[in-house]
Amino acid sequence: MARGRLAVSGGGPVVLRSAAWFGEGATGGDLRAFSHRSRMRQLGYLPEEHLGKPVIAILNPWSDINPCHMHLRERAEQVRRGVWQAGGFPLEFPVSTMSETFQKPTPMLYRNLLAMEAEELLRSYPVDGAVLMGACDKTVPALLMGATSAGLPSIVLPSGPMLRGHYRGRTLGSGTDLFAYWDEHRAGRIGECELAEVECGLARSAGHCMTMGTASTMTAAAEALGMALPGSSSVPAVDSAHHRMAAACGARAVALVREGLTPAKVLTRAAFEDAAATVLALGGSTNALIHLIAMAGRAGVELSLEDFDTIGARVPVLADVRPVGDHLMEDFYYAGGLPALLAQLARDPGVLHPERETVSGRPFASYYADAEIRLPKVIRTREDPVAPEGGVAVLRGNLAPGRAVVKHLAADPKLLTHTGPAVVFDSYRELKDRIDDPALGITEDTVLVLRGAGPLGGPGMPEYGMLPIPAYLLERGVKDLVRISDARMSGTSYGTCVLHVAPESHVGGPLALVRTGDLITLDVPNRLLTLEVQDEELRRRRAAWQPPAPHYERGYGALYAEHVTQADTGCDFDFLSRPGRNPEPDPR
Ligand code: FES
Ligand code: MG
Repeated sequence: MARGRLAVSGGGPVVLRSAAWFGEGATGGDLRAFSHRSRMRQLGYLPEEHLGKPVIAILNPWSDINPCHMHLRERAEQVRRGVWQAGGFPLEFPVSTMSETFQKPTPMLYRNLLAMEAEELLRSYPVDGAVLMGACDKTVPALLMGATSAGLPSIVLPSGPMLRGHYRGRTLGSGTDLFAYWDEHRAGRIGECELAEVECGLARSAGHCMTMGTASTMTAAAEALGMALPGSSSVPAVDSAHHRMAAACGARAVALVREGLTPAKVLTRAAFEDAAATVLALGGSTNALIHLIAMAGRAGVELSLEDFDTIGARVPVLADVRPVGDHLMEDFYYAGGLPALLAQLARDPGVLHPERETVSGRPFASYYADAEIRLPKVIRTREDPVAPEGGVAVLRGNLAPGRAVVKHLAADPKLLTHTGPAVVFDSYRELKDRIDDPALGITEDTVLVLRGAGPLGGPGMPEYGMLPIPAYLLERGVKDLVRISDARMSGTSYGTCVLHVAPESHVGGPLALVRTGDLITLDVPNRLLTLEVQDEELRRRRAAWQPPAPHYERGYGALYAEHVTQADTGCDFDFLSRPGRNPEPDPR
């Protein structure tokens, strides 16, 4: 993606893409270069402040509505400091914010839009390299997908987890305790006053969810890919170490440009295998499977759901962090952070790839060499794991020809082999309205089925996958049921929830054919999900099936519906994931 030429101090002559906009030297180039330089003067910069320096775009998803990124406006200042000190020129670009809490129907609908925005911003402006800020769930995958397709040297600045939650001397975890205390309230065990206290104590600082949700999982995945600095994903958002790390990211982005270290050099098959191993050792979010497959697609790397099952078989779960364990990300940081966990993984020489390139400029082994566990209750050793193998199982069977996933570590073990009659809901609205109705006759044997919640049906595959348990069962102490859907589930959720059933019901996947009363068998040890209905009967039902009306008639929603792929291939747009090169813009 290079055009112009300019020498930069430190690493010898470097071709700067941005020089195509500004011309060579202080007066070089044509009318356009003259025009671009005059506008830089209008912005208040001296020629010597930017000419010949790597231009670093700081992609910043800060917004008033995003508490997980609320510190990033200020943190961008530390990135700038690092860029200036390393001899670069920083330019901050506000990008679309994806707040997992506030954006509806779900930010997943917009992940590919942010990926497109990032790619096209980097492509269309005088930019040589990028710092990708953020964490709230889809943000890191979106920005990395865009930067990978743009092909410019880039580094992820993870926005960091928030501090632990607090309530009457107890520690609260985001998501996990939101659900748990809400169920306590529904069961009549806590009143309005207590609930108001929980509301104030659940999230009490800037930063992303501090459980092992999608944000903690995907920022760790970015580090394990070698796209973020060593240890950076574990630093709490409000810790001074986060400021220092931000400055280091800015400085390193400048060096990446000088070294020509593009995402393509880092994002190899080996990198994705290491990221998958890391996600599984963390007991991470099931969303990571969708995102890593989509990110690999952008890098031209083959990665399938089966790879996660294969890798999981040789990777123990080592992070004792909720919802799989007991602790929170703040504890994980004090325990040594991701480097300490990677060091444990690396003790089995077959698991990680120590020699591969990273944005740190050093081999991946340097991410964990000499790292030690400081709190062995939080980061476990290989000898004393949370679980002997990875926490996510990939299921197949006549109900999920394109596979489904279950985070069986966060499930009730006695439900992992279970046959029961289905109670089917066609939409989340119907489910919410009817779930507490005793007339449905839901018992602990029931298999709850939600459809119409996939990439197209949701739309955007919302995190409905932890279907609520009827209040009358909660009152009797029933805490888990087998639940099946084509939805996703928050990484902070738990229970025997079979997710990402593909193909989804909206496009006529077998989930569309299930009827209340049908028997369904979940067999996690054998990785099977079976609808116990004869093929002949299923053929009859299929012949009578009518596809639902599309959600969107125009706009982005219609574009999304036309191009989104199913969960097993990462829900990217077909036209974004296919190989091919776009021309560089000609700034002259
Ligand atoms: Fe932003 Fe959980 S809501 S990371
Ligand atoms: Mg989440």
